[in-house]
Amino acid sequence: MKRLLAFAFVPYMAFVAAGTEKATITLQPSGEAPVIAKEIYGQFTEHLGSCIYGGIWVGEDSPIPNTNGYRNDVLGAIRDLKVPVMRWPGGCFADEYHWQDGIGPKEDRPRMVNSNWGGTVEDNSFGTHEFMNLCEMLGVEPYISGNVGSGSVEELAKWVEYMTAEDGPQARRRKENGREKPWKLKYLGIGNETWGCGGNMTPEYYSDIYRRYATYSRNYGDNKLYKIGSGADAYNTNWTDVCMKKAGSMMDGISLHYYCVDNWSSKGSAREFDNDDHYWLMGKAFDIDTLVSSHSEIMDKYDPEKRVGLLVDEWGTWWDVEPGTNPGHLYQQNTLRDALVAAISLNVFNNHADRVRMANIAQFANVLQAMLLTRGDSMVLTPTYYVFKSYIPHQDARLIPLKVDTRTLSVRKGRTVPLVTASASEKDGITTISMVNISLDEPVEVTVNLDGAPVKGKKVEGNIITSDDIHDYNDFGMDEKVTMRPFRDARIKDGKLLLTLPAKSVVTLSL
Ligand code: AHR
Repeated sequence: MKRLLAFAFVPYMAFVAAGTEKATITLQPSGEAPVIAKEIYGQFTEHLGSCIYGGIWVGEDSPIPNTNGYRNDVLGAIRDLKVPVMRWPGGCFADEYHWQDGIGPKEDRPRMVNSNWGGTVEDNSFGTHEFMNLCEMLGVEPYISGNVGSGSVEELAKWVEYMTAEDGPQARRRKENGREKPWKLKYLGIGNETWGCGGNMTPEYYSDIYRRYATYSRNYGDNKLYKIGSGADAYNTNWTDVCMKKAGSMMDGISLHYYCVDNWSSKGSAREFDNDDHYWLMGKAFDIDTLVSSHSEIMDKYDPEKRVGLLVDEWGTWWDVEPGTNPGHLYQQNTLRDALVAAISLNVFNNHADRVRMANIAQFANVLQAMLLTRGDSMVLTPTYYVFKSYIPHQDARLIPLKVDTRTLSVRKGRTVPLVTASASEKDGITTISMVNISLDEPVEVTVNLDGAPVKGKKVEGNIITSDDIHDYNDFGMDEKVTMRPFRDARIKDGKLLLTLPAKSVVTLSL
């Protein structure tokens, strides 16, 4: 039976006749398709609020169970998520960070004011050794964001030498500070948001500066740096164009930052929103698809071979802070709605794996769209954490291109967004498909045409992330509301995978 959705209740949607929603997903042969870089599942950690202090690091003397100062519960979460790469120390903080203040005996480390983030006094107790050792212990690739805004070429050059040289003056200092062998460092960011908090530069000026900093960031021994230019803010394609033209030949990657915000002076609440806000957010999240395409197109002009990666090294939702918390600490809750944003975005990044080689959601703990929240010795895993967990099979798997036939919705700000988005990949003989249904009330009957799937299989299993209410979130002192549960309602029939995708859900299935 058809039901008409009343325009008055859903002003964000085109006037549509709704019945049983249907969508078809067709997997295409994956022949030449790229591998989905595991780094797309990367994290961002900044000296901001309690991302580092309290979120990851509590110090060796803390009553909170820890290993060498790192919280044990958080170490477990990093392992469980198979975090491939972590960006540090910022963000805006990186361009005021002077690494030499964060080495040597802790009691001698100078303090500084974290002027970007609430004026908090930073005691530098978490520095290069603490970050690099954390990454090494967990098998995570470190991604160092170098200070270009207020630091010198010499300072960055010496930092690279300190971390990666076997011998020489900086290696000697490192050894005196207790670390004999150099660490491995691949990812080096040359500045952050140099169009804004990282120096308010023009793209022309930054491109020249980039060339200088990149020149003196040397490869020591067999350590080979992957140098990343500070790329555009969201829709600023001119930035990408100028940087690629003037400095692209010296870059391995260029970044892109995209936050789901349209009005920076009133970003809205993480937990209190109406249906119109929900659908606006889905449209805003899906806009990353257009954005990645337009930046990639510009990069193609200068780099048709796609040697240079596009790294979305900051992305996610950014809400007004939770009432009563420090406005400079960017602490926000995380509902099922945020989880849908994560899944939509990860599907887009997977599908653009030919150009997108890394993405780092902002931020790992207690800040913006976090994986986890901590309070004292308690830790809460957010709905977004579970999306990252359910998408693990896509890490380093070969993309299976796909086509989704689904209804599109017209939402606020003149955007359109498909009701269902998806991505698929194959690894070790297992085909994995992730699907999102953004509808708040309509389940969607999905038919996945498996003709192009490298592995057809007869058995399907998977998981679902959903909850009764889109506003649901996980909080301290209560059972988890939004989590990952087994999904058993899919079957294979006549070479097709059939399932009903519940409203507001993320489902990942493996064949
Ligand atoms: O993630 C918070 C901030 O957002 C980062 O420090 C900065 O790079 C961006 O503006």
